[in-house]
Amino acid sequence: MSIANVGIDLGTMYTVMAASNGCRKCIASEVGFPRDAAAGLLFDEKYVMGDDLRKHRKALNVIRPFKGNRLKSAVTEQDYRKLTDDQPASQITAATYLVKSVLDDLELDSGAQIRCVVGVPSSATIYSQKIIMSLVEKAAQLVAVVPEPFAVGFGLDSNANNSIIIDIGAGTVDYCYFYGAFPAAEDLKSLLVGGDHVDKQLRKAICRKFPDVKVSEQQAQFIKEKFGSVGSYTSPAAVELPTKSGRVISCDLTDVVRSTCQKFAEMIVENLTSHLSMIESEDFAIENSEILLAGGGSQLAGLAEYIEDRLDLRGQTEVKKIHDSRFAGANGALQLARQLPDSYWEQLISTTTIEKNKAA
Ligand SMILES: Nc1ncnc2c1ncn2[C@@H]1O[C@H](COP(=O)(O)OP(=O)(O)OP(=O)(O)O)[C@@H](O)[C@H]1O
Ligand SMILES: [Mg+2]
Repeated sequence: MSIANVGIDLGTMYTVMAASNGCRKCIASEVGFPRDAAAGLLFDEKYVMGDDLRKHRKALNVIRPFKGNRLKSAVTEQDYRKLTDDQPASQITAATYLVKSVLDDLELDSGAQIRCVVGVPSSATIYSQKIIMSLVEKAAQLVAVVPEPFAVGFGLDSNANNSIIIDIGAGTVDYCYFYGAFPAAEDLKSLLVGGDHVDKQLRKAICRKFPDVKVSEQQAQFIKEKFGSVGSYTSPAAVELPTKSGRVISCDLTDVVRSTCQKFAEMIVENLTSHLSMIESEDFAIENSEILLAGGGSQLAGLAEYIEDRLDLRGQTEVKKIHDSRFAGANGALQLARQLPDSYWEQLISTTTIEKNKAA
């Protein structure tokens, strides 16, 4: 039987997969269900994703299955029992459709044994890991989970050795001291908020400053991505927004965007400092290491320089954005799936890597 290896990054915002046949896919992690019987007539399927969802958003109940970290990192034993009951929660149903649909799009050989490595947040509970594994197992034969930033590091060239990887996503910011081997518990850390939190805070701040405007979290996200900056970078943010009275006004959002992004950057720095203090290895010294920023949040203007300044690293340790941050997690997970010998696969699936390291 042939083997198809797949690296999977089930992101809060984007689901990304890379397969050994060279196929790569990225789709928004959201699934739309027709709002009512009339809306149901618009579609051939009982759920929609991608372009169809974007086009008909108003006619759909849209579920972002990984939003709020409930599935990916914070599932408790009690939640797990509830979530795996006979009637699966809508989040699980949506996540199942999402995973199956993207895997189907990869055009893997029919009849091939599908072997997947899936990234999960650094602090994912064992029950979150089990949920993610069981979701993917519905469409694949062998599934292993690894910490998201470790997958990122594995996909980079060997220069990533002895570096700190910070994967700044929509739901979490995940830290990993990367040295080639599977990380131990003290090498991993998660900040349980990410870009979604920034969007929520930015929306609130805009509404406080301009009480008459209408702005959604999604618009706040666009504004953050276009105008967000920290440290010595500034970009003036003059944005036209609709008001409750039906007009459009020009709003100067420079200060609110900046202060919201700055607070997030500060959280990233505080958690980095705490992560560095947790690392027990005598071989680790920040001066001999690099800090690599991954995930969509790494695109925040000025962030790398801000971290260098706050940790007083200028001239010693470089803080760098990695290349191709959208696919880095899936690519690294694919490389792991491909390169691990069968015996390691067995070891990896019998207990998840994170579970094993926590127990050690
Ligand atoms: N230029 C930018 N400035 C600030 N944030 C940005 C920028 N570009 C993208 N982002 C943010 O990056 C986040 C998406 O990153 P990514 O795709 O890595 O998340 P994810 O993998 O889906 O989430 P997670 O790993 O937390 O589950 C969003 O919050 C998005 O708004
Ligand atoms: Mg991610």
